Amino acid sequence: MKTIIPLLLALAVSTLAANVPRRPPRAEHVVRQEKNPDPTVGGSPDGGWQSMPQVADATAYPNWTLDDSGAMLPVYQTTGLIPNEVTRAVIVLPGKPRDCWYYWNAMNNALYLANYQNSSISRSQISIMAPCFWTQVDVEAGAAQADVLIWGMTTWISGHENVGPTGVSDYSSFKALDALIEHYMNKSVYPNLKTVVLAGHSAGGQTVQRYAGLRQTTENDDRLHFWVGNPGSLMWLSADRPYPNASCSGIDDYKYGLAGDFPAYGSKLDRDSILSLYNSRIVNYAWGTADNGNGDTRCEAETQGSTHYTRGQNFVSMVNATFGWPANATVDWVEGVSHDNVGMMESAEGIDKLFVY
Ligand SMILES: *[C@@H]1O[C@H](CO)[C@@H](O)[C@H](O)[C@H]1NC(C)=O
Ligand SMILES: *[C@@H]1O[C@H](CO)[C@@H](O)[C@H](O)[C@H]1NC(C)=O
Ligand SMILES: *[C@@H]1O[C@H](CO)[C@@H](O)[C@H](O)[C@H]1NC(C)=O
Ligand SMILES: *[C@@H]1O[C@H](CO)[C@@H](O)[C@H](O)[C@H]1NC(C)=O
Ligand SMILES: *[C@@H]1O[C@H](CO)[C@@H](O)[C@H](O)[C@H]1NC(C)=O
Ligand SMILES: *[C@@H]1O[C@H](CO)[C@@H](O)[C@H](O)[C@H]1NC(C)=O
Repeated sequence: MKTIIPLLLALAVSTLAANVPRRPPRAEHVVRQEKNPDPTVGGSPDGGWQSMPQVADATAYPNWTLDDSGAMLPVYQTTGLIPNEVTRAVIVLPGKPRDCWYYWNAMNNALYLANYQNSSISRSQISIMAPCFWTQVDVEAGAAQADVLIWGMTTWISGHENVGPTGVSDYSSFKALDALIEHYMNKSVYPNLKTVVLAGHSAGGQTVQRYAGLRQTTENDDRLHFWVGNPGSLMWLSADRPYPNASCSGIDDYKYGLAGDFPAYGSKLDRDSILSLYNSRIVNYAWGTADNGNGDTRCEAETQGSTHYTRGQNFVSMVNATFGWPANATVDWVEGVSHDNVGMMESAEGIDKLFVY
């Protein structure tokens, strides 16, 4: 009897329990933010990169075809999305070391954080792409196939023309950006795409800012956003400078100004035509208030300010004083962040401009 009574009780209780609506189990699994480690790759920026490393969640395309000319550029792109569901694309540029795999991964980690903080920022709707602007040393070291577009070590940053492969000439890095943007803007491929963000930090931020000024086609500009993070120097819009230097020649020439010396891509443009385009575009600037490094130390850059942050403050003041703040531009001063691409992308302001705005 002693054993049977508790047994009956237990049965009765469990029968009762079966008829009572169950409460959901206590959350025992902890939802963690995904953070993929930085991919590693052999080689160096000066000696050349040896391969296109695998990157979690991304597919590497060593020879993405840009347009009907057959010109090819390596890119990484988010794996496995359904084009119909994609509403936003973020094309993120590399830094000066041409580290496309690293920037793809950093942007993807920022998207994991954004999705973790706000589940309506959906990973299935946002395609990330990172182009690789490579050079002759990357062909020699092995990362670049012999038939893809290559540039000089830093000439891709300012929109200059390719130097290879044999048989392809006059291909500006800005023309390559035109083609990547067109890929996403194509409504028969991505019918629900609302926004393409072209994003860059540091050297990539310089590229985005210059491209926003020189970009020729305008039909999709209402869906195109530019995110300019901590650029080392800027394409200044007025002819004067906060720290003029009479011994520094060409202060107002491209890439530091608009007096002239434009690459072939922008050779039909002049100051006025660039200004009217640039000031109408959706340009979202972001500077870390602790970015006290000077990046570009050339005298042209020094006339804009002594650090990334002060160059940004001076630029914003100049734009505001000369033109009035453009209706389509925003600026984020990201408190306490230094020259830190991850810190900028993962800031609340960065997440908003990259994945929501
Ligand atoms: C692209 O690269 C892949 C892998 O290296 C190669 O198999 C393919 O033939 C290349 N395609 C073109 C058009 O070069
Ligand atoms: C969350 O994301 C949605 C969709 O992207 C956006 O509309 C909303 O403002 C975001 N909420 C917050 C609190 O940021
Ligand atoms: C858009 O994509 C379709 C399907 O791939 C292609 O046939 C068409 O040429 C593309 N349009 C443009 C303007 O590139
Ligand atoms: C802001 O951008 C929209 C969309 O591209 C454009 O139609 C409008 O003219 C721009 N506004 C100004 C003041 O330039
Ligand atoms: C002005 O430019 C000259 C020529 O490049 C340079 O030597 C000098 O350091 C610059 N002065 C300042 C204050 O940056
Ligand atoms: C531009 O100047 C106005 C008037 O001084 C000021 O209210 C506004 O905040 C400035 N805009 C920026 C982006 O600094």
